[in-house]
Amino acid sequence: DKGGHKHFMAKEIAEQPTVIAEALGHYLSKSDEIRLPDPAIDFSQVERITMVACGTAFLACLTAKYWFEQIARLPVEVDVASEFRYREPPIPGKSVALFVSQSGETADTLAALRYCDGKADKIVSVVNVPESSIARESDLALPIHAGVEIGVASTKAFTCQLTVLFLLALKAATDRGELSEEARQDHLAQLRRLPALMSEALEQNDAVRETARKLANARDVLFLGRGPLYPLAHEGALKLKEISYIHAEAYASGELKHGPIALIDEEVPVVVMAPRDTLFDKTVSNMQEVMARKGKVILISDRGGLSEASEGVWDTVVMPDVSDAVAPILYALPAQLLAYHTAVAKGTDVDQPRNLAKSVTVE
Ligand code: M6R
Repeated sequence: DKGGHKHFMAKEIAEQPTVIAEALGHYLSKSDEIRLPDPAIDFSQVERITMVACGTAFLACLTAKYWFEQIARLPVEVDVASEFRYREPPIPGKSVALFVSQSGETADTLAALRYCDGKADKIVSVVNVPESSIARESDLALPIHAGVEIGVASTKAFTCQLTVLFLLALKAATDRGELSEEARQDHLAQLRRLPALMSEALEQNDAVRETARKLANARDVLFLGRGPLYPLAHEGALKLKEISYIHAEAYASGELKHGPIALIDEEVPVVVMAPRDTLFDKTVSNMQEVMARKGKVILISDRGGLSEASEGVWDTVVMPDVSDAVAPILYALPAQLLAYHTAVAKGTDVDQPRNLAKSVTVE
């Protein structure tokens, strides 16, 4: 049942305010305690987190690396499962191995988990299917409560994974004495506002559809971001290529001048994800380098950011104000909408894109 939507993907994008509220309800008590399922986990003595996943789940891990490092001051290693397992990396004893998977059945991720079993101190997974193999083989499985996801392109599972990983980073920071009560309250207040902010972001649907019409003619699209928005740039590019078959790549804004800027001309749209955060000015200066080479910029930012930096850009998408840490969860929505509407404009099979399966159980 597509609930009145044309595609499951559209339904699943629209469900995000509800499922995020649901996930928060499962993990946050009324008095703002973070409640994890048993067995209890304590990060105070942990020396490293090793995060492993595939595809969009991998990009959720890359985003969470920023949170675990910056908020919990915990060293993090992230890898795609198909590389990790064959690299045979050393796993220090005092480490947590964390596996993220919507289906919980992805073959490479499961094999990576089995590799870490008996080496890492704890095996933790973040899954959507609690009965899945990955959940069953973990010491601790954290469900994301996204509900069934049917569209091959992952949307609501991604933002629910991010939400659970963010809560886990806050829990780790608290265990390690790295988080003041005030900072903790600030982060939780932002999370509690997230469903409402997401609803506001979804009001940009019609505007994004117009932008996507222009994008549908492109052969290549670049996505740029900095800090926690850098992994999200990768997610925007993955979503776009997956369902619209347009070639898309992501770069850290600061890497552009080390090579990729050679690609820019008037044919190449460049999507810039830039909330007005502490790195905003740097991203804007990279964006101006793109425009100086006639690149067509689509700037996704908040009101303040757009009023400061939208001169000369091709198009804009306005987002509500949000904290630096929570921004990647909110900015996932315009990235998803952009891919969705571009695919619809091109007439591709949005829910069942060619060559792809929802669950990849072969290596
Ligand atoms: O079920 P999993 O989360 O383990 O799946 C991982 C990837 O196959 C998956 O995220 C894939 O990249 C999606 N189609 C992306 O939209």
